[in-house]
Amino acid sequence: MKIDIVSVFPEYFDVLNLSLFGKAQAKGLVEVKAHNLRDWTHDVHHSVDDTPVGGGAGMVMKPEVWAECLDELLGLEPVAAAGHDGDGNMKSSATDRSDTVSDDTSDQQSIGAVRDEVDVAAVDIEDAASAPQASISDSNGRADGPVLIFPNPSAPLFTQRDATELSHAGHLLFGCGRYEGYDARIPDYYRAQGVDVREYSIGDYVLNGGEVAVSVMLEAITRLLPGFMGNAESIVEESYTGENALLEHRQYTKPAEWRGIRVPDILLSGDHGKVDRFRRDEALERTNAIRPDLIEQLDCAALDKADRKT
Ligand code: ADE
Repeated sequence: MKIDIVSVFPEYFDVLNLSLFGKAQAKGLVEVKAHNLRDWTHDVHHSVDDTPVGGGAGMVMKPEVWAECLDELLGLEPVAAAGHDGDGNMKSSATDRSDTVSDDTSDQQSIGAVRDEVDVAAVDIEDAASAPQASISDSNGRADGPVLIFPNPSAPLFTQRDATELSHAGHLLFGCGRYEGYDARIPDYYRAQGVDVREYSIGDYVLNGGEVAVSVMLEAITRLLPGFMGNAESIVEESYTGENALLEHRQYTKPAEWRGIRVPDILLSGDHGKVDRFRRDEALERTNAIRPDLIEQLDCAALDKADRKT
């Protein structure tokens, strides 16, 4: 699996060289590259953000810089789009990453004119936000097309189901927003180009930027890759896995008694049937108490007779 991450703090991802992720890279299971968004800027300050249109606090990440970066990483033709500079003057953005803007933009502008015919504004934003995010077709091997993922506290929640689906992708490209977020036209534009674009929140709280959220999603996805974890069974059994996800039962190790607290006797009985029943009951009880929403989502047909009694 190829993984590109774009951030204004690419060093944040240096930790991916450690631990299981580092081993997975060494084994060739994943190939990760963290890029600095500022490498695609052309101004002397390497600015990536601007004030929000319509007013408001904070800064919003600019679409032009992201687009040059994403076009390149997605392998799309670069586009020289006419825009306005901060003073309201028309200007043409460069498509190469040198600091000098070339005068010869005629070819680039003609590509831009073709691309401009794509009516980005016509993307039905409600559809994009509420529809289940596009599915990766392939269930056996890797899907071909890249998946572009933006963490966003205002997006649908990222779940184990999403992690499982994305673990079948061949190429993931994560874009980390900072400040007040990124210009909303960026995901709309790439959707209109036919790219599989996802926006996910990792929880109902606001972080300073997307880096932590990307790390969370990345770990949830890559640990599902065959060969990533030493013990594949532990993945099958753990919480949130499968159609009928329950919180996992509690775990104990030796000694049987520690500081006066005993491991439940049944777990020491050696009777695997009883142990399984005990664990299943505990999973159901804990899920009912802590996450009743998961119980509501359970498929009743998948409950066994003994479950119904608990
Ligand atoms: N960026 C800031 N907060 C976030 C969250 N909760 N999930 C995803 N991205 C975020």
